[in-house]
Amino acid sequence: MNRRYRKTIIAGNWKMNKTASEGKALLDEIKQSVGKIKWCEVVCCVPFVDIPMALRALKDTRIAVGAQNMHHEASGAYTGEVSAAMLKDLGVKYVIIGHSERREYFGETDELVNKKVLAALEAGLHPIVCVGERLEQRDMGITHELIAMQVKAALAGVPQDKVRKMVIAYEPIWAIGTGRTATAEQANEICELIRATIRKMYGARTARAVTIQYGGSMNAKNASELLAQPDVDGGLIGGASLKAPDFTAIVEAANQ
Ligand code: 13P
Repeated sequence: MNRRYRKTIIAGNWKMNKTASEGKALLDEIKQSVGKIKWCEVVCCVPFVDIPMALRALKDTRIAVGAQNMHHEASGAYTGEVSAAMLKDLGVKYVIIGHSERREYFGETDELVNKKVLAALEAGLHPIVCVGERLEQRDMGITHELIAMQVKAALAGVPQDKVRKMVIAYEPIWAIGTGRTATAEQANEICELIRATIRKMYGARTARAVTIQYGGSMNAKNASELLAQPDVDGGLIGGASLKAPDFTAIVEAANQ
């Protein structure tokens, strides 16, 4: 992390876990244990139906609420979908876009991810855009090209003054939910590549202001080492965000 130029952000991605009542119990525990948050931003990205509960529970704290997805159109006949304006109106600050689970199980393409990014920014939300390679792609040696392409596609048409509002999360698919974390060097190498890609598109000042997270089996044990890397500006945390002591330990590692 490099706090001089950009925010460190620790975000929990609850995925499809926790009913509103279970989520409330978890947030109450997190609020108690997390202590004073000084040097980083903390976000809980909860299921849609948990959002009102989370906003109430976190009202007087420094923990922000995020969503895990949204539709790219402003409104209309899209049964079952949720728009960026609906999230913004509730008080949601962040929205995860293009998580590998959405790309894999719901067919989200780079083009769709780009549409969602543009819509989120337009509504005043901060998108957390996920990029990452599969193990076969890493083994083929195409990780750099692939990640650069995902970043370029996600950012297509994003105006210069909005790029700083974005967060990019590097989540190697082989590290998600597997307990197999990228090494700190591997994580930094790709976060640096993402920054270089943004630099080519928008220049050095903008690139150094963008928060780039690592995600994939980040936990209480490995967080400090990952966050010590110069280009790793935080974490997007799945499993460990569902346990208050683990999530708190990661926040503490970022709060040092
Ligand atoms: P895990 O931390 O469970 O590996 O999940 C990472 C992730 O997908 C966060 O979005």
